[in-house]
Amino acid sequence: MELHILEHRLKVASIEREGIQVCTHGLIKLAFLSSRTRCKFFSLTETPEDYTIIVDEEGFKELPQTDTMSVADATWLALNVVSGGGNASSSQPIGVTKIAKSVIAPLADHNISVFMLSTYQTDYILVRERDLPLVMHTLSSEFTLLRVVNGETVAAGHLGVTNGFDKPKLVPRPIIHPLSSPSNLFCVTSLDPDTLPSVATLLMDVMFYSGGSKENCACPDASSRIRFFSFSLIEGYISLVMDEHTAHRFPTNVLFTSASGELWKMVRIGGQPLGFDECGIVAQIAEPLATADIPAYYISTFKFDHALVPEENIQSVIGALRTESTVTQ
Ligand code: ARG
Repeated sequence: MELHILEHRLKVASIEREGIQVCTHGLIKLAFLSSRTRCKFFSLTETPEDYTIIVDEEGFKELPQTDTMSVADATWLALNVVSGGGNASSSQPIGVTKIAKSVIAPLADHNISVFMLSTYQTDYILVRERDLPLVMHTLSSEFTLLRVVNGETVAAGHLGVTNGFDKPKLVPRPIIHPLSSPSNLFCVTSLDPDTLPSVATLLMDVMFYSGGSKENCACPDASSRIRFFSFSLIEGYISLVMDEHTAHRFPTNVLFTSASGELWKMVRIGGQPLGFDECGIVAQIAEPLATADIPAYYISTFKFDHALVPEENIQSVIGALRTESTVTQ
């Protein structure tokens, strides 16, 4: 298996909900007029607390400097596992389940903090640029490491790290942070970039103007629903994660989902904001899911983490995770 170290140098930022107006000019350009920018990696995730932006340095220049925006103080690089040769129809587990044991657990064992972004197309594991030598050392036994340089994929040279790392002891990994499971269901979808203009107004509404609207307020479970919407445009591919009610607002056949058209339940991780230094949070969730062979997407935001698991598996997920923590519905 190959591990690609992408060349985008990424910033992770949070924009306060109240401050989003100042940034919409830049965000609309990054999402809908990307050919007018040099940005190749952009993601925006709306949660009840804020908007999380992951953007490359070129895209970051499109955003104003404002005090409603906080930027995590590191440059992040995205890693991406590419399983060579396998055909697409082989029943590979999707999402973080596939990389839990080979990437996420070893990084956690070496105290390397990650930031996850699953999309419709793939899963990006973000690591701090300064941790790259240790990341490469940690993963070199499992993977062929390749670096993307000027768009070309080349063998990643050694970065001067030889040994001196003890094999970490395999210690149990209890779940530390409180978990909760909102009542809504989510779709993980994509969109042909050519059809983006036809749904741009709708997407702008969903991204910037639908928060707190009456949209779902009539539902009896309104209080346990969560506002969550994620848009990414990475290397020309669009991915959207949205509530099923939001998905129904799109014209038929515009969004594509996996053949099974599954719906996903969310497990939200964190009581207090999780910060960026702590390691092993993703591993605490992804490893038990991998052991139980339950597919999962995983999206980190500035404050919290979010795992998405198939609707029908939510009870067994809660069961598997509850052995070590308390899940509130
Ligand atoms: N750094 C955590 C880990 O290594 C995941 C990210 C949590 N922090 C956050 N702001 N979402 O598992």
